[in-house]
Amino acid sequence: MESRKKERAIMTFIDMLGIKHPIIQAPMAGVTTPQFVAAAAEAGVLGSVGAGYLSAEETRDFIREVKKLTGNPFAVNLFIPENNEMNQEQLDQAYLALQPIGRKLGMSSWKAHLSESDFDRQVDVIIEEDVPICSFTFGIPNQKTIQKLKNAGVLLIGTATTKEEAIAVEKAGVDAVVAQGSEAGGHRGSFIGEEHVPLAVLLPSIIEAVTIPVIAAGGIANKEQLNHQLLRGAEAVQIGTALLATEESGAHPLYKQAVLEAAENSTVLTKAFSGKSARGIRNEFIDIMVGIPIAPYPYQNDLTKKIRSEAAALGRPEFMSLWAGESVHESACGTVKEIIKKFI
Ligand SMILES: Cc1cc2nc3c(=O)[nH]c(=O)nc-3n(C[C@H](O)[C@H](O)[C@H](O)COP(=O)(O)O)c2cc1C
Repeated sequence: MESRKKERAIMTFIDMLGIKHPIIQAPMAGVTTPQFVAAAAEAGVLGSVGAGYLSAEETRDFIREVKKLTGNPFAVNLFIPENNEMNQEQLDQAYLALQPIGRKLGMSSWKAHLSESDFDRQVDVIIEEDVPICSFTFGIPNQKTIQKLKNAGVLLIGTATTKEEAIAVEKAGVDAVVAQGSEAGGHRGSFIGEEHVPLAVLLPSIIEAVTIPVIAAGGIANKEQLNHQLLRGAEAVQIGTALLATEESGAHPLYKQAVLEAAENSTVLTKAFSGKSARGIRNEFIDIMVGIPIAPYPYQNDLTKKIRSEAAALGRPEFMSLWAGESVHESACGTVKEIIKKFI
């Protein structure tokens, strides 16, 4: 591990990541499978495990599955736990507001299991399994955790949606930062207020403000856009939506279909599914939830979990979360290798 740290001091960012091409397969919790991550790693880009919703032991099993499929490096992505204030009345109201949607799916009532973060034990698993890179979103780990990971030689990548967040990420001693533009699919990584800055504005402002490598993310759907971001000073790009409909993706078949059929301007930002802003394909669930009480993250996510799984089981995409970025209309099917090849 000591030698890993020394080697990094004289390397380019891509060399530091141990990859051939300046591309990171976006971590996508609930979508990434071991086959998906390994296929990305085998294609010469950085595969990333979306471990945000996993327990520590599930994270370990996932890592071991990826290792069976590839000897190339990959990252594990974690969600920084949040302690948002919530009272029982708020939770009851949000639960009540979801009842009409539940009835549309034939659910009379359901029990919402409140999830607990396994973050600290996941960090230990990353170190024990000798994973070389850890990325995270929704905040910055505390100094104790950062030092623990760095002492183990793990390279750290944070996420920022504003210049202020990028400065905070660098100040905490993190090695690189993802500039997540408002075009990006999935949850916003915001942790200081909430702003939706497009990548064209965000990337230069972050590059100017920090000295660590900056990774561009949000709406990058083809080789020209990738090259454009590199020319503007990004060290690499992070791509999610373009890989959603691949064979190795764990997205539900109807989710993949919705991605492949999506037209331009079909995505919106919504808090309806989780209590946190996220971009996805607009559907009936999002429309019904406008103006309706929503519990703060992660409680809303726990409340809607059963609805989303029931909708998936019944084949009702109008009530599923179809996370996707603004360039979703450019997504195509194929293998991870085939799609990545188009970017190189
Ligand atoms: C389905 C989906 C799930 C995502 N899950 C995560 C996640 O678990 N962790 C994370 O850091 N980012 C996550 N993201 C955001 C990506 O890291 C990245 O910012 C985004 O995919 C880039 O924009 P694009 O989708 O337009 O390529 C997710 C994105 C999508 C589309």
